[in-house]
Amino acid sequence: MSNRRWGWGLLGMVALGVLWSACSYQPFRQGEILYANFCATCHGENGEGFRDLYPPLANSDYFRENQLETACIIHYGMDKELVVNGKTYQQAMLAVTQLNDVEICNVINLLSYSWHSGMKTVTIDEVRAQLESCSDWELLD
Ligand code: HEC
Repeated sequence: MSNRRWGWGLLGMVALGVLWSACSYQPFRQGEILYANFCATCHGENGEGFRDLYPPLANSDYFRENQLETACIIHYGMDKELVVNGKTYQQAMLAVTQLNDVEICNVINLLSYSWHSGMKTVTIDEVRAQLESCSDWELLD
C-alpha cells in the first residue's frame, strides 16, 4: 500500500519535472516568476508599460506581429525607434542576459497566453532557430 503511494508520488514528481522543463502552455509559473523579476520593473506588473519610456506588452501589436523576435530582443536588447499601438518609443532596452533559451521560451508563452487572446505557443525549437537567425545582432548590455 505505502509502496504504491510512493510510486504515484514519484510518478507525480517526474511528471511535474517534465512539465516544468517543457516549454509549453501548461506551467506558467516559471514564466510568471521570470517576468516579475526581469521585465515588470519596466513593462509593468500587468504589462501596461510606462508613459513614453517603456512600451506595453499587454495587447501590444508589436509583440503580436513579432512574437518570436521577442527572443532576440530579450537575448540581445534593442535600440531603435519603435511604434507600439501607434505610439513611438525610442529608449534602448538592454539585454536580459540572465535568461537561457528555455526560460525565454517560457516568458514568451506567458506573454502570449496572458495578454494576447488566441495566440499560438512557441516551441523551444522555434526559439532556438530564431536566436540563430539574430546571432548578428549587437549585444546591448
Ligand atoms: C530596463 C527596462 C526594460 C526591461 C527590464 C525590459 N524591457 Fe523590454 N523594452 C524596454 C524598452 C525601452 C523597449 C523599447 C526598445 C526600443 O525602442 O528599441 C522595450 C521593448 C520590448 C519589446 C518590443 C515592444 C513591445 O512592447 O512589444 C518586447 C516584446 C519586450 N521589450 C519584452 C521584454 C521582456 C519579455 C522583458 C523581460 C525578460 C523585458 N522586455 C525587459 C525596456 C525594458
